Amino acid sequence: MNSDLVIKDLHVSVEEKEILKGVNLTVRAGTIHAIMGPNGSGKSTLAYTLMGHPGYTVTSGEAWYRGQNILELEPDERSKLGLFLAFQYPVAIPGVTVANFLRAAINAHRAEEGKDPKETAIPMAQFRKQLREQMTALGIDESFARRYLNEGFSGGEKKRIEILQMAMLEPSMAIMDETDSGLDIDALKIVAQGVNTLYERHPEMGVLVITHYQRLLNYIKPHFVSVLMDGRIVREGGPELALELEEKGYDFLREEVASA
Ligand SMILES: Nc1ncnc2c1ncn2[C@@H]1O[C@H](COP(=O)(O)OP(=O)(O)OP(=O)(O)O)[C@@H](O)[C@H]1O
Ligand SMILES: [Mg+2]
Repeated sequence: MNSDLVIKDLHVSVEEKEILKGVNLTVRAGTIHAIMGPNGSGKSTLAYTLMGHPGYTVTSGEAWYRGQNILELEPDERSKLGLFLAFQYPVAIPGVTVANFLRAAINAHRAEEGKDPKETAIPMAQFRKQLREQMTALGIDESFARRYLNEGFSGGEKKRIEILQMAMLEPSMAIMDETDSGLDIDALKIVAQGVNTLYERHPEMGVLVITHYQRLLNYIKPHFVSVLMDGRIVREGGPELALELEEKGYDFLREEVASA
């Protein structure tokens, strides 16, 4: 089964306005792939579309993962297939604690048709142990397990919790939208370390890292870099492309694209 994520000529509109104008992109299993691009180029739109956010309308195109066009699946089915999105702006869920949220998410993945959910649920002791280990690794205080998800969390705390979710769910294709924004340098290193550890444990995993700064890529080393501009991939390369963008900014590419 093909575990690459293959996006073909994807067109997406938001409230009648076309944002993605034919995106072609392959995120190969076992690689870290960065998408860079200026503000408003459509990076989050791509991430939300891949996860099935109802506000984004796919007008044409496909996205294949593990033998299925995921654009035809419900968000929970995509999640069960191994896709995960760490949000740029994580939402708060008052009344649901971090621990309960994570346990529910894990159990939803473990559920099997025709089986009693109690039978497939993760044993409590195992869950607690895993949670404790991952929180320690990500430098998250134990008290966060009992707090309501993202309620009153600082920007950096929210991002760490996103990575905690990722570490607990062990996705096979992880999409991280601007995971670096709002993080101070120490938090950035911890989060990057969390991602790297997960990737080392699951070298077959694909990671799509969305960022507009090269800074994060010093810590999470991409194999491939693609540049999204005005709803299209305009350039692909290796890690050196991120460095070139850092040095020259996006304007030189804009001019190149305009004159092409
Ligand atoms: N609900 C909406 N209504 C109207 N326009 C929208 C809506 N959502 C997104 N857009 C527009 O789509 C474009 C792409 O937005 P998107 O969030 O995908 O950009 P981005 O590349 O993630 O930017 P950033 O780097 O700032 O996160 C923007 O021009 C934005 O204003
Ligand atoms: Mg964005």
